[in-house]
This record gives sequence, C-alpha cells and structure tokens, in this order.
Amino acid sequence: MKIRPRRLFTGDFKIPGDKSITHRAILFNGIASGEAVVTDALLGADCLSSVACMRALGAQIEVEGSSIRVRGAERLRAADCDCGNSGTTMRLLMGLVAGVGVEARLTGDASLSRRPMERVAAPLRLLGADIATTAGHAPVAVRPARLHGCTVDTHVASAQVKSALILAALGAEGETTVREPLLSRDHTERMLAAMGADIRADGCTVTVRRSALRAADVAVPADISSAAYFMALGALCGETLCRGVGVNPTRTGILTVFDRMGVDYALENERTVCGEPVADIRVRKSALRPLTLGGAVMPTLIDELPVIAALCAYADGESVITGAEELRVKESDRIRTTAAMLTALGGDVTERPDGFVIRGGGKLRGGRIDACADHRIAMSGAVALAASEAGGEILGAECVDISFPGFFTMLDP
Ligand code: S3P
Repeated sequence: MKIRPRRLFTGDFKIPGDKSITHRAILFNGIASGEAVVTDALLGADCLSSVACMRALGAQIEVEGSSIRVRGAERLRAADCDCGNSGTTMRLLMGLVAGVGVEARLTGDASLSRRPMERVAAPLRLLGADIATTAGHAPVAVRPARLHGCTVDTHVASAQVKSALILAALGAEGETTVREPLLSRDHTERMLAAMGADIRADGCTVTVRRSALRAADVAVPADISSAAYFMALGALCGETLCRGVGVNPTRTGILTVFDRMGVDYALENERTVCGEPVADIRVRKSALRPLTLGGAVMPTLIDELPVIAALCAYADGESVITGAEELRVKESDRIRTTAAMLTALGGDVTERPDGFVIRGGGKLRGGRIDACADHRIAMSGAVALAASEAGGEILGAECVDISFPGFFTMLDP
C-alpha cells in the first residue's frame, strides 16, 4: 500500500465499532436467553472469528449489514473453534466454555499460537477448570468440570484474563473474586451487569456469583483504538473529528498523552450509550512536546502505543515510555516492530525491555515498512508516513482488516 505525504489532513470520520465491545456482545449474548441485536458492530476479521466460534458452539448468529443478530444456545455443544488471529476470542472463550461446562478445542493462526495462554489457563484451574494448553500456547483443550468460586489474583493487568475468569465464575458454585494489579478495560463488567449477572466492581476488584444471562441489545460505540489513528493525523497535519467514540475511562489513556504532549483536542456531545460513555473527539494540529509515560495509565492505552510512539517521533525532544512490556506479547512483539517501523522511516528509537526511548524533532523522512502481520503496526505506519516528508509504502498492509476494514479508503478516499 502506497501512502502519500499530506501537508494538510482534515475530515469528519465515522470510525468502525469497538472491537472489545463487539466481541463481548457476540460472546455473552451467545450464552444468554433470548435474542439480541448488536448494532454498529465491528465486522473486522477478529470479531468474525468470535461469530464463527459461537456458531460452532451452537448459538444462532446472523450478520445483517453492520448489525449482528444473536440467539443464544440453551446448551452449547462441543466444538472445535478456530479463533484466527484473535486473542480476545480465544482467551474469553476459555473462560466461557469452562463456565458453561462443555468440551472445546481452541486453535488459532501462527501469531495467536505464539501468544501466552497459561496466563488464562492457570487462574481458571484455581476455579476447578480442566484446561490443557500446548506448552503454554494454543491449541487449548477445555473439558467439562465442576467449578467453585474462589479469590484469584491476576498477575497481569489484562482485561482478557479478567474477563475469562468472570465468565467462568458465572457457572461456578459460590462467589468468585478477581483482583488485578492495575485496572484494565471494564466492558465485561458493564455488559454483564446489564444482562442481569450478579457482579460488582470496586476499583481493581470484581466479585461475581453464579448467574444466568438475559440477552441485551448493544449499540456499539466507535473504537477509540481505531479513532486514535485519525486523532493522531489531526494532531500532526490539520484537524479531525471522530464521531461517537467510546470514551470509557479505562480506554482513554491517549487523551492523557494528548494532555502531556500539548495536543489541542476537545470532547463534544458527551453522552452515555448502553452503559458506555461516548463523545465526538475533535483534534487540531499542535506543536508536540516530548512524552514521559509509564505506570497505571498503561492498560488504558496499551493498543495505542504504536501510534503514540509515532507521535513521539514528531515531538520536539526525547520521549521515554516504560511499563509497556505487555507489548512484547501482542499480535507481534510491538516494542520490536514499532521501533523497526519508525527506524525504517528515519526515526531515532532505542528499544528498552519494557518500552522505548524516542528522540523526535522535525519530520520523518518516509520510506518502506513491513507491517509484520500486525494491524496496529500497519495503521501506525500509515500515520507516520502520511505526516512524513516523502511518504512511502507498507508491505503486508491488508492485515488492517483485523480491526479496521476500510482504513485505507478512509485515509485517502
Ligand atoms: C482486549 C484487551 C487487551 C487489548 C486487546 C483487547 C479485550 O488485551 O490489548 O486488544 O478486548 O479485552 P490484554 O487483555 O491482553 O491486555
């Protein structure tokens, strides 16, 4: 994919639906009683993996335009589930399938099969789940077992791990308490409460009791992790408005970054939709200050770090990002692939075990980058290239379909 340099980038964008919320709406309604319609759903490849897996397990699901109609199965059936590239599908299904008490074998593509699965399997075993990973990875086999509530500390701030435990707890006897070290995204807690689950959240602690779910319609907000690319282009090259973006406080770390870097932005038309805060986000071209980032904010911007790193390459001075070791186990090793992407464009980046040092100043030169089969590297690279002197090209750019079908058309209609 060729990306031309842009002196000025302006526009009003309808960004696709939130990936995390779409996955949850499909999976949770798939085990609920009744029928639900999920509107403005993301139909990226990852969410379609959740659709395919829930169909294999017995839920009835129809995709109609950007809506998904889900009728839950009264009893799920044993199935082989191909989770594709989707970590959220595999990890949430581990808990869901264990909680329902059905047999399943979960597989994924080459990237997903390299990602750690014991972080989910090990705490699920504390509830009594019978789960086998393949040397810590997929394929994962889940067999029926009686689950009992207990208190579990997750050792990583991961909404996927937390959500798997909560889903298993819905089918466990007694009460389960899940504590995480830092607060991760809380879409699961919000949606399950709306579906009638007995669930309470208090800071980094969630308490769940065995519950049956009622189907609930979900209107999916635009994904702030996808909007981030167009927000960054506004900050670098002009002015952008992204409408109807989910601004759940467990997801808005990029706005904290904007505050620190001196980005001129505003939230407009703030409202609540299906229990999730939503707003239009306007961003204007700004002189960027270097960034120091680390600590509790990291889970709230974890997927935005590649594009935040691209912004740092255009800031006036040295930025230091720490506490980002989770990037090593995403769709690619995003510390390595982000550093390689910016370096290929003329940036000055040093990798750290848990982050980066990025020396910014002036524009990047441009050039050719490899997406490394990682959608967020492809889109962050597109932003860095659009703002560069000469533009350039992205190899393997088609992987954007994982989370943002139509990204390149929106970038350059
Ligand atoms: C997600 C949680 C995050 C995030 C991923 C989606 C979710 O992963 O990176 O894109 O929907 O729960 P971790 O749970 O591994 O932090």
